[in-house]
Amino acid sequence: MSVDKRKNITAILGPKGGVGKSTIAANLAIALSRMGKKVVAVDLDLGASNLHAIFGMRGSPKSLSDFIQNRVKNLADVVSTTSIGDLGIICGGDDPGIANMPHQKKIKLIRHLSSLNYDIVLLDMAPGASFNVVDFSIIAQQALLVTTCEVPSLLNVYSFIKSAVFRRLTFFLKHNKWFELLELLNQAKEPDKHPHLKTMEGFFSEARKTDAAAADSARKMLARIKPLVVVNRVRTDKDARVGEVIKNLLKEYLSIETAVIMTIRDDNAVGDAIAKLSPIMLDAPSSPFSQDIQEIASRIC
Ligand SMILES: Nc1ncnc2c1ncn2[C@@H]1O[C@H](COP(=O)(O)OP(=O)(O)OP(=O)(O)O)[C@@H](O)[C@H]1O
Ligand SMILES: [Mg+2]
Repeated sequence: MSVDKRKNITAILGPKGGVGKSTIAANLAIALSRMGKKVVAVDLDLGASNLHAIFGMRGSPKSLSDFIQNRVKNLADVVSTTSIGDLGIICGGDDPGIANMPHQKKIKLIRHLSSLNYDIVLLDMAPGASFNVVDFSIIAQQALLVTTCEVPSLLNVYSFIKSAVFRRLTFFLKHNKWFELLELLNQAKEPDKHPHLKTMEGFFSEARKTDAAAADSARKMLARIKPLVVVNRVRTDKDARVGEVIKNLLKEYLSIETAVIMTIRDDNAVGDAIAKLSPIMLDAPSSPFSQDIQEIASRIC
């Protein structure tokens, strides 16, 4: 099976505590489908799946469990169709065991996800940064990091981006066999012991002393990382500006200037739609939430 690198896989990530990942995933899928894209939304919150409920489905005759337990051969065969344009859903499994699935099965699932024949594959991820979340988000071409305005949630998203940056740099340095820089990067993970490596700028200036060309090349790689942060449940102008906190942290400590901050307003219509078992994008398409989702859909397309 060939892996199509052009496929647009977007992972929706974020911390615990109901920050809105699944609600955003479902409604973003509808918005993208209405823009003429062939979309499939995949519930990867293995063991605690609820994406189907946000779409207003009570259940599904087929789910990710069927694929993982080898009851069906191809992932494409567990896509449920919806009445909304070219939009499909892969419902999560009801089998809690799949949250810790063996490595081989995970690799197989990743291979099949990358081969799905859709313009956009949206992954609704489990909360946090567990190994499963990290492995699946690595295959994504882009990741939307969802947070609320609360400080712990914001800091969590910053930490997630920081670990993703370190992971990518580690991989890049290993791949190029720049082991001295790799050692330096490991030291940078302990800023208390190595205060001069507390910022990425500090790391790069130290790295240049060892190998200037390698350091510049790592810096170029870093410049291609463009985090997309969604601040959800915004109520006030002050709330809307909290994304700047992450933006400034990313700039100061990780030398990332490319972060895009988007906001979604807190909206009672979200709860009303869920009570009616109808996604808000269909139930109240001109509500503040739906308008904000539409704008995000246009930006990520
Ligand atoms: N912008 C919003 N305005 C009002 N309510 C919202 C908004 N976004 C999400 N919610 C509500 O917040 C709750 C949690 O949302 P959701 O289940 O999408 O979060 P989650 O991040 O997927 O949670 P989990 O980590 O448990 O998977 C839901 O009741 C949802 O209706
Ligand atoms: Mg969820």
